Amino acid sequence: MNMPCKKLQKSLVAFLAFVLTLASPNLLHAADLANGEKVFKANCALCHSLGTNKITGPGLDGVTKRVPQPFAEWMHKWIKNNAALRKSGDAYANKVYADNNSTAMTIFDGTLTDAQIDDVIAYIAAPPKAPGPDTTTVATGGGTSTGEKKGGGGWGILIIIGILAVIVTVLRTVRKSLQTVVDQKDGEKPTEERGVWGDIKHWIYHHKTKFAVICIFFFAVSTVYGWEYLWGIDVTPGYQPSQPINFMHKVHAGDNAIACLYCHSGAEKGKVAGIPTLNVCMNCHKGIQGSNPDYQKEIAKIYYAVGWDPAKADYTNPPHPVQWNRVHALPDFAYFNHSQHVVVGKVECEKCHGDVKTFTTDKQFAPLTMGWCINCHRETPVQMEGNGYYTKLHQAIKKNFGEDKKVTEADMGGLECGKCHY
Ligand code: HEC
Ligand code: HEC
Ligand code: HEC
Ligand code: HEC
Ligand code: HEC
Ligand code: HEC
Repeated sequence: MNMPCKKLQKSLVAFLAFVLTLASPNLLHAADLANGEKVFKANCALCHSLGTNKITGPGLDGVTKRVPQPFAEWMHKWIKNNAALRKSGDAYANKVYADNNSTAMTIFDGTLTDAQIDDVIAYIAAPPKAPGPDTTTVATGGGTSTGEKKGGGGWGILIIIGILAVIVTVLRTVRKSLQTVVDQKDGEKPTEERGVWGDIKHWIYHHKTKFAVICIFFFAVSTVYGWEYLWGIDVTPGYQPSQPINFMHKVHAGDNAIACLYCHSGAEKGKVAGIPTLNVCMNCHKGIQGSNPDYQKEIAKIYYAVGWDPAKADYTNPPHPVQWNRVHALPDFAYFNHSQHVVVGKVECEKCHGDVKTFTTDKQFAPLTMGWCINCHRETPVQMEGNGYYTKLHQAIKKNFGEDKKVTEADMGGLECGKCHY
């Protein structure tokens, strides 16, 4: 190939490399947010919502505006070690601590890397749009499962690839016309037209090593993604089946502050939390017929199901039992017991089920994988106080492990296969 053409090709490669460098922060950024979301769900969602409602910690809506600026710097220090930041005399840190009844937030120094903390800050600063609380659409039915959307970066990457394709096409055209000019000047026969595919083959033929490296790279990337995808099969956080009556936890456990255990009394007593029978509903709904047409329509379904005639105020109609669609289901070979967690472990329902008080339709919050159970058993300190029945046992454990060590469920045998598998 002649000189000018070689030069042109070099500058073309350089230009492409330049475009790629420009594009790569975007690619990286997309990955950051996805990772930030993961970090958030695994470490922060137990205590923080992205809305305005408080769980254990304040809702993080607008937090980047209320913390000291630049927010990323302050939040980094806070998330890494909030106790240290408070000790350093940081006024805002002490204020937010006092405002929250001096409930200490977890220290993440050692658990999260600096990069993970930055990712989660990026995610909090720009979370994907959450569907607003929706109280008007009642029983739209229809929907089966709205699996959680994974990784929002897909479109960005497609757009970048599209732009690159356009640039490559333009550059090819430019090169071709230049080549023709050069050829004409040199008095050579115009170089033969090979077409895109021909060009690619030509390039591969002359750059076998580079081609092999590219192949290996793509193979490695697809293996990694494929592996992650396979791990995700049948893991369904976000699973949200429709229900025969559009019962809203938001209206009951949220707005009307009915205790979870009023309806799910089983959670305190044994393995299964249980779904309340419609008789429990009728304790209230004999009197409450609904303050708006949407509610009335749904509450009428309870009356139909139990055979209640509101006009006669009596159970004179035939009953038509309701079948709720189950949201959570562990495989049969795994043993999970609510009272072990709720009563003995004093784990809040929200830790495993999310902020149910705001749900308008029930959904699965946690992944319910073995890894999820195990992680929590590794991290959660056993509640030593206020469990009369176990006081003696706990004192013995303290002696064993030393007063100061955080005794986790894992230390007590919570990782033994037989505890969770029949
Ligand atoms: C065990 C519960 C808990 C966990 C887990 C937790 N936080 Fe917090 N967080 C709190 C509490 C409580 C506060 C309020 C300040 C205080 O009392 O220390 C807080 C405050 C904050 C604030 C300041 C809020 C404001 O209104 O100014 C930010 C930001 C924050 N947390 C981010 C995070 C991030 C990010 C994670 C996950 C990496 C996380 N938190 C995990 C409980 C928690
Ligand atoms: C007024 C009664 C009532 C109250 C109070 C109530 N629930 Fe429920 N809950 C139900 C009914 C009925 C269902 C089944 C229908 C559905 O899934 O929407 C249900 C379903 C659930 C499910 C999903 C069950 C499954 O199928 O896997 C969870 C989890 C749950 N509730 C947790 C809670 C928590 C946590 C609270 C307290 C914040 C609470 N509930 C308060 C009545 C109630
Ligand atoms: C402790 C009292 C109480 C119990 C028990 C109760 N409800 Fe309600 N329910 C209410 C109140 C209060 C409202 C709000 C009524 C209004 O604002 O018009 C309501 C509203 C509703 C609505 C309309 C809003 C919505 O969630 O879609 C439905 C449907 C409903 N309840 C179903 C049930 C079912 C099913 C059960 C039994 C699992 C049940 N309720 C148990 C008090 C109760
Ligand atoms: C440590 C985690 C954890 C806590 C805490 C927890 N749950 Fe559950 N919950 C689960 C798991 C796991 C399942 C699925 C159980 C199964 O399929 O056998 C479940 C299932 C349920 C169901 C479906 C019916 C059933 O029992 O299978 C309801 C309702 C429920 N939980 C309500 C509650 C309520 C109310 C609380 C708080 C009082 C609570 N849960 C606390 C993990 C938890
Ligand atoms: C949010 C944290 C958390 C999650 C998630 C969790 N656990 Fe636990 N689990 C605990 C705590 C805390 C205890 C200890 C209770 C105590 O103090 O003895 C415990 C105790 C147990 C025990 C009794 C162990 C013993 O030593 O006797 C079993 C069995 C168990 N969990 C099974 C499961 C299974 C199965 C899952 C997943 C489906 C799960 N847990 C998810 C926190 C959790
Ligand atoms: C804290 C509770 C817990 C302990 C301890 C535990 N498992 Fe599991 N295991 C589960 C749960 C829950 C599932 C179901 C997960 C799912 O459906 O994805 C499961 C699933 C499995 C599976 C099916 C494959 C899979 O990932 O779904 C195998 C195999 C398994 N466990 C083996 C073991 C062995 C071996 C041990 C001991 C080293 C062990 N488990 C200890 C809770 C536990």
